[in-house]
Formats: sequence, C-alpha cells, structure tokens
Amino acid sequence: MARKKDNGDGTTQERFGIRLRRFAGSALYSDTLNAPIRVAHLTDLHVGLVTPMKVQAAAVDIVHREKPDIVVITGDFVCHSHAFLDDLTEIMRRFEVPIFGVLGNHDYWAGAPGVRKALKRGGLELLTNQSTVIEIRGQKLQLVGLDDAYTGHADRHKALKGISHHLPTLGLSHIAEEADGLWAHGIPFVLSGHTHGGQLTVARLNEFALGRIGKHRYVHGLYGRREAHRREEHGAVYVGAGLGAAVVPLRVGERGNREIALFELGMKPGALIEHHAEQTPLNPPRETDEARARALAHERFQARRKRRFRAPREH
Ligand SMILES: [Fe+2]
Repeated sequence: MARKKDNGDGTTQERFGIRLRRFAGSALYSDTLNAPIRVAHLTDLHVGLVTPMKVQAAAVDIVHREKPDIVVITGDFVCHSHAFLDDLTEIMRRFEVPIFGVLGNHDYWAGAPGVRKALKRGGLELLTNQSTVIEIRGQKLQLVGLDDAYTGHADRHKALKGISHHLPTLGLSHIAEEADGLWAHGIPFVLSGHTHGGQLTVARLNEFALGRIGKHRYVHGLYGRREAHRREEHGAVYVGAGLGAAVVPLRVGERGNREIALFELGMKPGALIEHHAEQTPLNPPRETDEARARALAHERFQARRKRRFRAPREH
C-alpha cells in the first residue's frame, strides 16, 4: 500500500484523513537498546457507528506497512455501549504483531468486563495497573500500563510493583497527566490519548478549551523532556490525537486529523525528522486560583446587589 503524501515534516497523509507521525523515543533508550524497537501507537479507536470499520481497517493496513515490532493502544476502544464488541475483536485480530493496551473512560462507561473480553478474544494484552516484559529480537522492553485515571481506576503503586529499573521501559496511560507520576518512578516515556487533540475546534482554541476548562496540561503531541540524564529527573509524554470519534463524526483543522504515531525507541531525539520537538505544557488555573476567582465574583455580585437595592438618597 503506497503512502498517500509525504508532507516532508516527519508526517505522511494517508487515506481517511489519517496522519502518520514519527518520533524518536527518550534518549535513555539509546543507552540500553542495541537496535531500535519500533512501536506503533494508536489511541481512542472508538469502534462503533461514528468511526466506520473501513477507517479502522485502513489504520491496521498502515500499521502493517510500517512493520512495527509491537502495537500499543491507549484506551477508549469503544463509544458508549457493547454494540460493536465483535467489530472490536475483529480489528484486534487483524494485527499481525503483539498488541498491548490500557482502558479509557469510555471503556468503563460502556462496561469494562465486556470490553476486556472482546480485547482478549482479539489477542490484545491488557495492562490493568500492571507491567510486562517482552523480548524483541533478543532485547527486552518493559511495558507499564496504568488503568484509566479519568474514571478513578489508575493505581500507580500497583502498576509499578515489581518493575525492573534496569530495563528500557515504556508507560501507557489513557490520561497524559499521569505521566508526571510515572517519570518520578523512572519511566522516561509515556504514551497516552483521550483529548482527541481538540477534535472539533480549530487552531489553538482547542487548547484553550481543553487546557483551561478540561484542565489538561498536555493536549496533543510531545511534552516534557526526552533528553533526561537521570531517570528520576523528568521524562516525556506523547498525547495521540486518536483514530476515532465518540460523539460527533467531524474532525476539523490540523489537530483534528486521525492519527497513528510511530516511535523509534533507541533512536536519539534529533536523529530523524519530527513534526515538532517537546512542547511547553499548558498551565491551567490551580484549584486555589479558581476558588479565589469564584469568591471575588461572589463579592462583586453582592456589592452590585447592595447598590441596586440601596434606598434612594435624600436630597
Ligand atoms: Fe477518553
């Protein structure tokens, strides 16, 4: 299958508005891996009415063309129900390399036990607050999967229990903001989803909406630092724009592309053309700022009310 269009910026434009992006992994991987491991990252498939099966199948074909070693999927496999679980199983079965994943909020809303069964039938290994070590061409890679934080199922302590601190490790979490806590425990790179990159909005209005209202500091693409010298110091997170949609079938603007991302773990950042470098996280208001703003607004409201109902002055 031929690429539709090479954009010359580390991305290719594929069928059905799917954009393929390529990035190097954390610098730490190049210290521990002798040869790069290629990871294909998909997220927010939302298998169902809104995202046609032909789009899901095209994504699998694109992934195969790129010959990854593994596929990872960071949650929201379904939309709102169990109506399309057979389709989900079928899509999972099409992948010809090992697939790993974590659940997202929609999977819990639809009913996690059913989604888990469908994924298992399809051959995906779900990491529910747990880790696994896989071997690829004689090299070990550790995967740590955090369960969905949006619905309160993430348990970092459980997920990190018994992990090796000497192996190259990749974190998976539906919610990107969980990455900070994983970096602190020596996981240098985390893949995530959930935001849809601001699916329905144009330009940076989406970041305003997601950052200020939804309180997401990481909206779309790379954040943090891949050039970490000490494991505990810091790390990086990638937020995928997702493949599907849960509610509205429209994806508008650059950030509304459907997305597949390829990560070359073991290649140093800067070794290949990338769409962008690490971005600065957004800075949503803190709880205390919001509380102060609410208190101030209330004071002003009361003051206005007093003025309005004050008895007319005598002249
Ligand atoms: Fe989600």
